[in-house]
Amino acid sequence: MTISTIGVPMDLGADRRGVDMGPSAIRYAGLASTLGNIGRSCVDAGDLTVPHAEERDPEARSIEANAKYLDEVESVCTRLADEVASSLDDGALPLVLGGDHSIAIGTLVGASRDAEIGAIWFDAHSDVNTPETTPSGNVHGMPLAAALGMGTFADTPWANAPGLREENVVLVGLRSVDEPERERIRDSAITAYTMSDIDQRGVVDVTEEALDIATDGVDGIHVSLDLDWLDPSHAPGVGTPVRGGVTYREAHSALETVADRDADTGVLRSLELVEANPILDSHNETAELGVELVASALGKRVL
Ligand code: ARG
Ligand code: MN
Ligand code: MN
Ligand code: MN
Repeated sequence: MTISTIGVPMDLGADRRGVDMGPSAIRYAGLASTLGNIGRSCVDAGDLTVPHAEERDPEARSIEANAKYLDEVESVCTRLADEVASSLDDGALPLVLGGDHSIAIGTLVGASRDAEIGAIWFDAHSDVNTPETTPSGNVHGMPLAAALGMGTFADTPWANAPGLREENVVLVGLRSVDEPERERIRDSAITAYTMSDIDQRGVVDVTEEALDIATDGVDGIHVSLDLDWLDPSHAPGVGTPVRGGVTYREAHSALETVADRDADTGVLRSLELVEANPILDSHNETAELGVELVASALGKRVL
Protein backbone atom coordinates (compact mmCIF):
# COMPACT_ATOMS: atom_id res chain seq x y z
CA MET A 1 0.00 0.00 0.00
CA THR A 2 1.34 3.43 -0.97
CA ILE A 3 2.15 5.87 1.83
CA SER A 4 0.80 9.37 1.29
CA THR A 5 2.75 11.93 3.31
CA ILE A 6 0.87 15.07 4.38
CA GLY A 7 2.83 17.79 6.20
CA VAL A 8 1.03 20.12 8.61
CA PRO A 9 3.39 22.90 9.82
CA MET A 10 1.14 23.82 12.72
CA ASP A 11 2.32 25.50 15.92
CA LEU A 12 -0.81 27.43 16.91
CA GLY A 13 -2.13 24.54 19.00
CA ALA A 14 1.03 24.62 21.14
CA ASP A 15 1.44 28.40 21.16
CA ARG A 16 5.10 27.69 20.51
CA ARG A 17 7.20 28.50 17.47
CA GLY A 18 9.46 25.78 16.19
CA VAL A 19 7.08 22.84 16.11
CA ASP A 20 5.84 24.26 12.78
CA MET A 21 9.23 23.20 11.38
CA GLY A 22 8.53 19.57 12.27
CA PRO A 23 7.49 18.37 8.79
CA SER A 24 10.62 19.85 7.29
CA ALA A 25 12.88 18.30 9.96
CA ILE A 26 11.23 14.90 9.51
CA ARG A 27 11.72 14.98 5.74
CA TYR A 28 15.33 16.15 6.24
CA ALA A 29 15.85 13.16 8.55
CA GLY A 30 15.36 10.91 5.52
CA LEU A 31 11.73 9.85 5.66
CA ALA A 32 11.31 9.15 1.94
CA SER A 33 14.56 7.17 1.53
CA THR A 34 13.94 5.21 4.75
CA LEU A 35 10.50 4.16 3.54
CA GLY A 36 11.93 3.40 0.10
CA ASN A 37 14.57 1.16 1.71
CA ILE A 38 11.89 -0.97 3.36
CA GLY A 39 10.08 -1.32 0.05
CA ARG A 40 7.19 1.06 0.73
CA SER A 41 6.27 3.39 -2.07
CA CYS A 42 5.76 6.90 -0.87
CA VAL A 43 4.08 9.96 -2.39
CA ASP A 44 4.61 13.34 -0.74
CA ALA A 45 1.50 15.52 -0.91
CA GLY A 46 3.47 18.52 0.44
CA ASP A 47 2.47 20.79 3.30
CA LEU A 48 -0.87 22.37 4.09
CA THR A 49 -0.78 26.14 4.49
CA VAL A 50 -0.95 27.19 8.14
CA PRO A 51 -1.22 30.84 9.19
CA HIS A 52 1.51 32.31 11.42
CA ALA A 53 0.71 33.62 14.89
CA GLU A 54 2.10 37.01 13.89
CA GLU A 55 -0.57 37.39 11.19
CA ARG A 56 -3.27 37.19 13.81
CA ASP A 57 -5.04 40.02 15.55
CA PRO A 58 -4.00 39.91 19.22
CA GLU A 59 -7.47 41.18 20.21
CA ALA A 60 -9.15 38.20 18.58
CA ARG A 61 -6.67 35.96 20.31
CA SER A 62 -7.74 36.97 23.80
CA ILE A 63 -11.41 36.31 23.00
CA GLU A 64 -10.50 32.67 22.40
CA ALA A 65 -8.25 32.51 25.46
CA ASN A 66 -9.57 29.15 26.59
CA ALA A 67 -8.76 27.57 23.23
CA LYS A 68 -6.11 29.68 21.53
CA TYR A 69 -6.35 30.02 17.75
CA LEU A 70 -9.33 27.66 17.60
CA ASP A 71 -10.58 29.33 14.39
CA GLU A 72 -7.25 28.67 12.68
CA VAL A 73 -7.14 25.13 14.02
CA GLU A 74 -10.61 24.60 12.56
CA SER A 75 -9.58 25.87 9.17
CA VAL A 76 -6.39 23.76 9.00
CA CYS A 77 -8.03 20.62 10.41
CA THR A 78 -10.96 20.87 8.00
CA ARG A 79 -8.53 20.95 5.07
CA LEU A 80 -6.46 18.15 6.61
CA ALA A 81 -9.55 15.97 7.07
CA ASP A 82 -10.28 16.30 3.33
CA GLU A 83 -6.68 15.37 2.43
CA VAL A 84 -6.69 12.34 4.72
CA ALA A 85 -10.06 11.18 3.43
CA SER A 86 -8.97 11.54 -0.17
CA SER A 87 -5.71 9.59 0.36
CA LEU A 88 -7.76 6.80 1.90
CA ASP A 89 -10.16 6.97 -1.07
CA ASP A 90 -7.15 6.53 -3.35
CA GLY A 91 -6.23 3.36 -1.43
CA ALA A 92 -3.18 4.94 0.24
CA LEU A 93 -2.14 5.03 3.88
CA PRO A 94 -1.99 8.67 5.04
CA LEU A 95 1.10 9.55 7.09
CA VAL A 96 0.47 12.94 8.72
CA LEU A 97 3.53 14.91 9.86
CA GLY A 98 3.14 17.60 12.51
CA GLY A 99 3.20 20.12 13.75
CA ASP A 100 1.62 20.10 17.16
CA HIS A 101 -0.93 17.49 18.24
CA SER A 102 -3.98 19.70 17.54
CA ILE A 103 -3.78 18.43 13.95
CA ALA A 104 -4.98 15.02 15.14
CA ILE A 105 -8.48 16.52 15.10
CA GLY A 106 -8.29 16.77 11.31
CA THR A 107 -6.64 13.38 10.92
CA LEU A 108 -9.28 11.60 13.02
CA VAL A 109 -12.17 13.38 11.30
CA GLY A 110 -10.82 12.48 7.85
CA ALA A 111 -9.87 8.92 8.78
CA SER A 112 -13.34 8.17 10.18
CA ARG A 113 -15.42 9.91 7.54
CA ASP A 114 -16.24 6.70 5.69
CA ALA A 115 -15.16 4.07 8.23
CA GLU A 116 -15.43 2.95 11.82
CA ILE A 117 -12.00 3.35 13.36
CA GLY A 118 -10.10 2.80 16.58
CA ALA A 119 -7.18 4.91 17.75
CA ILE A 120 -4.00 4.18 19.69
CA TRP A 121 -2.49 7.27 21.27
CA PHE A 122 1.19 6.88 22.23
CA ASP A 123 1.73 9.95 24.41
CA ALA A 124 2.90 11.19 27.82
CA HIS A 125 -0.32 13.21 27.94
CA SER A 126 -3.97 12.23 27.58
CA ASP A 127 -5.00 15.24 25.42
CA VAL A 128 -8.61 15.17 26.65
CA ASN A 129 -8.83 18.73 27.92
CA THR A 130 -11.59 21.01 26.67
CA PRO A 131 -11.88 24.81 26.77
CA GLU A 132 -13.59 24.42 30.18
CA THR A 133 -10.77 22.38 31.73
CA THR A 134 -7.55 23.38 29.94
CA PRO A 135 -4.78 24.74 32.14
CA SER A 136 -2.96 26.27 29.16
CA GLY A 137 -5.52 27.17 26.50
CA ASN A 138 -3.43 25.16 24.06
CA VAL A 139 -5.48 23.05 21.66
CA HIS A 140 -2.74 20.38 21.42
CA GLY A 141 -3.93 19.31 24.89
CA MET A 142 -7.49 18.81 23.55
CA PRO A 143 -7.55 16.83 20.27
CA LEU A 144 -8.97 13.56 21.64
CA ALA A 145 -11.70 15.39 23.54
CA ALA A 146 -12.54 17.33 20.37
CA ALA A 147 -12.68 14.25 18.15
CA LEU A 148 -14.89 12.46 20.71
CA GLY A 149 -17.22 15.48 21.14
CA MET A 150 -16.53 15.86 24.87
CA GLY A 151 -17.57 18.97 26.83
CA THR A 152 -18.11 22.07 24.68
CA PHE A 153 -16.74 20.15 21.69
CA ALA A 154 -20.23 18.65 21.49
CA ASP A 155 -21.08 22.01 19.87
CA THR A 156 -18.29 21.94 17.26
CA PRO A 157 -19.33 19.29 14.72
CA TRP A 158 -16.35 20.11 12.47
CA ALA A 159 -14.10 18.64 15.21
CA ASN A 160 -16.03 15.42 15.87
CA ALA A 161 -14.75 12.23 14.25
CA PRO A 162 -17.87 10.51 12.89
CA GLY A 163 -16.63 6.91 13.05
CA LEU A 164 -14.61 6.99 16.29
CA ARG A 165 -16.05 5.68 19.58
CA GLU A 166 -14.51 5.95 23.05
CA GLU A 167 -14.63 2.14 23.33
CA ASN A 168 -11.96 1.89 20.62
CA VAL A 169 -9.66 4.64 21.93
CA VAL A 170 -6.57 3.52 23.85
CA LEU A 171 -3.97 5.76 25.50
CA VAL A 172 -0.53 4.24 26.04
CA GLY A 173 2.31 5.56 28.20
CA LEU A 174 0.59 8.26 30.28
CA ARG A 175 2.52 10.15 32.94
CA SER A 176 1.10 13.67 32.81
CA VAL A 177 -2.67 13.86 33.22
CA ASP A 178 -4.46 16.96 34.52
CA GLU A 179 -7.02 16.43 37.32
CA PRO A 180 -10.08 17.17 35.13
CA GLU A 181 -8.66 14.85 32.48
CA ARG A 182 -8.37 12.08 35.07
CA GLU A 183 -12.07 12.42 35.87
CA ARG A 184 -12.99 12.59 32.23
CA ILE A 185 -11.08 9.39 31.46
CA ARG A 186 -12.65 7.67 34.45
CA ASP A 187 -16.15 8.67 33.30
CA SER A 188 -15.52 7.58 29.72
CA ALA A 189 -15.12 4.26 27.92
CA ILE A 190 -11.56 5.16 26.93
CA THR A 191 -8.87 2.64 27.93
CA ALA A 192 -5.70 4.14 29.40
CA TYR A 193 -2.33 2.55 30.19
CA THR A 194 0.12 4.55 32.28
CA MET A 195 3.90 4.18 32.38
CA SER A 196 3.38 2.05 35.50
CA ASP A 197 1.41 -0.46 33.41
CA ILE A 198 4.30 -0.57 30.95
CA ASP A 199 6.80 -0.99 33.83
CA GLN A 200 4.84 -3.89 35.28
CA ARG A 201 3.62 -5.73 32.18
CA GLY A 202 6.09 -4.76 29.49
CA VAL A 203 5.42 -2.65 26.45
CA VAL A 204 4.67 -5.53 24.07
CA ASP A 205 1.97 -7.01 26.29
CA VAL A 206 0.37 -3.59 26.79
CA THR A 207 0.50 -2.81 23.07
CA GLU A 208 -1.02 -6.20 22.18
CA GLU A 209 -3.94 -5.47 24.51
CA ALA A 210 -4.26 -1.92 23.15
CA LEU A 211 -4.48 -3.39 19.64
CA ASP A 212 -7.18 -5.87 20.73
CA ILE A 213 -9.30 -3.03 22.14
CA ALA A 214 -8.71 -0.49 19.35
CA THR A 215 -9.43 -2.99 16.57
CA ASP A 216 -12.54 -4.51 18.15
CA GLY A 217 -15.40 -4.26 15.66
CA VAL A 218 -13.88 -1.52 13.48
CA ASP A 219 -12.60 -1.26 9.91
CA GLY A 220 -9.08 -0.23 10.98
CA ILE A 221 -7.08 1.94 13.33
CA HIS A 222 -5.27 5.26 13.47
CA VAL A 223 -1.96 5.38 15.33
CA SER A 224 -1.00 8.78 16.72
CA LEU A 225 2.60 9.05 17.90
CA ASP A 226 3.43 12.09 20.03
CA LEU A 227 7.22 12.17 20.33
CA ASP A 228 6.96 13.26 23.97
CA TRP A 229 5.82 9.67 24.60
CA LEU A 230 9.52 8.82 24.68
CA ASP A 231 11.76 9.73 27.54
CA PRO A 232 13.27 13.20 26.95
CA SER A 233 16.75 11.63 27.04
CA HIS A 234 15.89 10.02 23.68
CA ALA A 235 13.55 12.70 22.33
CA PRO A 236 14.68 16.10 23.62
CA GLY A 237 13.17 18.08 20.74
CA VAL A 238 9.61 18.43 22.04
CA GLY A 239 7.70 21.34 23.58
CA THR A 240 6.21 19.55 26.60
CA PRO A 241 8.75 16.94 27.75
CA VAL A 242 7.95 14.75 30.77
CA ARG A 243 10.52 12.56 32.47
CA GLY A 244 9.96 8.83 32.84
CA GLY A 245 8.94 7.94 29.30
CA VAL A 246 9.55 4.85 27.21
CA THR A 247 13.06 4.01 26.13
CA TYR A 248 14.37 3.83 22.60
CA ARG A 249 13.95 0.04 22.48
CA GLU A 250 10.51 0.05 24.12
CA ALA A 251 9.27 2.52 21.52
CA HIS A 252 10.54 0.36 18.67
CA SER A 253 9.07 -2.78 20.26
CA ALA A 254 5.64 -1.16 20.56
CA LEU A 255 5.60 -0.03 16.93
CA GLU A 256 6.94 -3.38 15.72
CA THR A 257 4.01 -4.95 17.58
CA VAL A 258 1.67 -2.67 15.60
CA ALA A 259 3.41 -3.70 12.36
CA ASP A 260 3.15 -7.42 13.22
CA ARG A 261 -0.59 -7.08 13.81
CA ASP A 262 -0.92 -5.12 10.59
CA ALA A 263 0.96 -7.83 8.67
CA ASP A 264 -1.48 -10.43 10.06
CA THR A 265 -4.76 -8.55 9.72
CA GLY A 266 -4.16 -5.30 7.78
CA VAL A 267 -5.48 -3.08 10.55
CA LEU A 268 -3.36 0.04 10.15
CA ARG A 269 -5.23 2.71 8.13
CA SER A 270 -3.43 5.92 9.10
CA LEU A 271 -0.41 7.10 11.02
CA GLU A 272 0.66 10.42 12.52
CA LEU A 273 3.94 11.74 13.94
CA VAL A 274 3.65 14.95 15.97
CA GLU A 275 5.37 17.43 18.29
CA ALA A 276 8.91 17.31 16.82
CA ASN A 277 10.40 20.76 17.48
CA PRO A 278 13.78 21.25 15.75
CA ILE A 279 14.47 24.47 17.68
CA LEU A 280 14.50 22.51 20.95
CA ASP A 281 16.25 19.49 19.44
CA SER A 282 19.90 18.61 19.24
CA HIS A 283 21.15 17.82 15.72
CA ASN A 284 17.68 16.76 14.57
CA GLU A 285 17.86 13.57 16.62
CA THR A 286 14.20 13.64 17.63
CA ALA A 287 13.01 13.87 14.02
CA GLU A 288 15.44 11.08 13.09
CA LEU A 289 14.03 8.93 15.86
CA GLY A 290 10.54 9.71 14.59
CA VAL A 291 11.48 8.48 11.12
CA GLU A 292 12.92 5.26 12.58
CA LEU A 293 9.75 4.65 14.57
CA VAL A 294 7.54 5.23 11.53
CA ALA A 295 9.67 2.66 9.69
CA SER A 296 9.15 0.16 12.51
CA ALA A 297 5.40 0.75 12.40
CA LEU A 298 5.43 0.20 8.64
CA GLY A 299 7.27 -3.10 8.77
CA LYS A 300 11.03 -2.47 8.96
CA ARG A 301 12.88 -5.54 10.21
CA VAL A 302 16.57 -6.31 10.78
CA LEU A 303 16.28 -9.73 9.11
N1 ARG B 1 -2.22 18.77 29.57
C1 ARG B 1 -1.46 19.92 29.15
C2 ARG B 1 -2.37 20.96 28.52
O1 ARG B 1 -3.53 20.73 28.33
C3 ARG B 1 -0.34 19.54 28.20
C4 ARG B 1 -0.78 18.95 26.91
C5 ARG B 1 0.36 18.56 26.02
N2 ARG B 1 -0.11 17.97 24.80
C6 ARG B 1 0.68 17.62 23.79
N3 ARG B 1 0.10 17.14 22.69
N4 ARG B 1 1.98 17.74 23.85
O2 ARG B 1 -1.91 22.01 28.17
MN1 MN C 1 5.55 28.69 8.96
MN1 MN D 1 2.27 14.72 24.65
MN1 MN E 1 -0.16 14.75 22.55
